[in-house]
Amino acid sequence: MEEEKKVVIELQNVKRYFQVGSETVKALRGVSFKIYEGEFVTIQGTSGSGKSTLLNQLGCLDTPTSGEYLLDGIAVRTMSKTQRAKLRNRKIGFVFQNYNLLAKTTALENVELPLMYNSEISASERRRKAMEALKAVGLEDRMYHKSNQMSGGQMQRVAIARALVNDPAVLLADEATGNLDTRTSFEMLVLFQELYKQGHTIIFVTHNPEIAEYSSRNINLRDGKIREDTINTNIKSAAEALAQLPAPQDD
Ligand SMILES: Nc1ncnc2c1ncn2[C@@H]1O[C@H](COP(=O)(O)OP(=O)(O)O)[C@@H](O)[C@H]1O
Ligand SMILES: [Mg+2]
Repeated sequence: MEEEKKVVIELQNVKRYFQVGSETVKALRGVSFKIYEGEFVTIQGTSGSGKSTLLNQLGCLDTPTSGEYLLDGIAVRTMSKTQRAKLRNRKIGFVFQNYNLLAKTTALENVELPLMYNSEISASERRRKAMEALKAVGLEDRMYHKSNQMSGGQMQRVAIARALVNDPAVLLADEATGNLDTRTSFEMLVLFQELYKQGHTIIFVTHNPEIAEYSSRNINLRDGKIREDTINTNIKSAAEALAQLPAPQDD
């Protein structure tokens, strides 16, 4: 028998309704899935399909109207706001479309930030971990650059390092290539594929169906329900795609 893989995330018939005046908007209409350790999952769907609402559930930023969410075996629905915030800080690494870095603050300080909330980690340990995370994303020579002195791709690398520094159970990316040009987007996908190969669990939410070709599994949302949930047996190499892009214009 094959070894049982660890379930990192489990959604059981999750519904999220919003009351807008007399109308009920059904943003999630019963979503169930399990995400296993080491998967690289894209959650894909057109605008209005429920991606952001689902991401807010997965990120412990919101609670479902009904249904259960288990994160690393812990039931999230019945938790208090404070408990959820703590769980989020320890278990989830967020990567946002607009990077969400502190301006005029060095890469190193930005990456150290999530560890500030953990009193068990000393200042020197914090610095060591942040340096390690920046190294992992290829920014060892940019540690003391401030965020406003960096390109979009570099800022997103800092954001990924910050997401990784706490050694989270899952990396949650929200349109993480949305603000980047084609070449830089592929560089980012190369990085996500490297993290996947290292065993990180990744959930990448996007409206862009092309990104699903680079992940190991794609969950397609439509009208707040799963339309399709497929394993990708032919994962494209982002490094190859990057190599095939036309050379950058030097103008
Ligand atoms: N806070 C809210 N109040 C009312 N309706 C909402 C709210 N958030 C989302 N919705 C509605 O839920 C549906 C799904 O939205 P959303 O999750 O943002 O989709 P996506 O991110 O895929 O574009 C849409 O019809 C949207 O208008
Ligand atoms: Mg959205």
